[in-house]
Amino acid sequence: ESFSIHVPASSANLGPGFDSVGLAINRYLTVYVEPSKTWQTRFLGTELNMLNNEDENLITKAAHFTADQYGKTLPPCRLEVQSNFPLSKGLGSSATAIVAGVEIANILLDLQLSKKTKALLASRLEKHPDNVIPAIYGGLTISYFNGDELETVHVPDVAVELIVAIPDHELYTKQARESLPNLLPFNKAVEASAISNVLVASLIKNNWKKAAAMMNRDLFHEPFRSKWVPFYDELKTTAVSLGAYGAAISGSGPSIVCFTPHQKAASITEQLSLLFPQYRFETVFPDRKGVHVE
Ligand code: HSE
Repeated sequence: ESFSIHVPASSANLGPGFDSVGLAINRYLTVYVEPSKTWQTRFLGTELNMLNNEDENLITKAAHFTADQYGKTLPPCRLEVQSNFPLSKGLGSSATAIVAGVEIANILLDLQLSKKTKALLASRLEKHPDNVIPAIYGGLTISYFNGDELETVHVPDVAVELIVAIPDHELYTKQARESLPNLLPFNKAVEASAISNVLVASLIKNNWKKAAAMMNRDLFHEPFRSKWVPFYDELKTTAVSLGAYGAAISGSGPSIVCFTPHQKAASITEQLSLLFPQYRFETVFPDRKGVHVE
């Protein structure tokens, strides 16, 4: 039997929610799976074409990893992979591949994994939970992961619209993580945590204005990464002047995500496109469903 898996992209961090908070968006990685004599993966479309030369891909790696956990072997399949969002732009593309792989094993082996178990397996592979968890649950998620244990709070309904601003260059998460400090002095850590606490509380109360104010105060990663994001300050200030609540670097960048009130995103997107030709702007919405199979 063949089937297809749809996994939403996501925007991680939301500023001070570093390595914890993530929001699923309505852009998807789609994998068509059909039984075959040997393992084959074909990446369709221009965004994914460059992956065709890789021997091992994250999707099959995650599928085999999941099967191994249960002492099972996967039957060979032919995969066709399609994506309607770009790779290495801070939109959680690797997380979508991992979650797709876990789900492929779940279905092929009839493992009947709970969301929580999928979340744990996917977090172990990705090492940080803030893209894989929203990709599995949909909506907004706040997670704690220490490399082994996972705690997640799921907020399914978020009343916000988003604009993703995507610059031309790619940025690899590994490189973007190397720019972060190893240590924060105790007083800075306390301040950074308080900022993050207020961010999360505001998000849960759907107070996006206050959440955005906290995004501007992030001490965990944006100060170290904004140098890779062209027109970082100008873009944020302009988005706010046009009616957005605020903005943050999406994941590890280089994209920026702007948060706007209901029915505002499309017109702000249009105006930003004229002002910042260096970027591609897209209006997106929260995904509420998470990974699903058809
Ligand atoms: N929290 C991760 C980081 C997300 O900022 O490095 C990467 O997508």
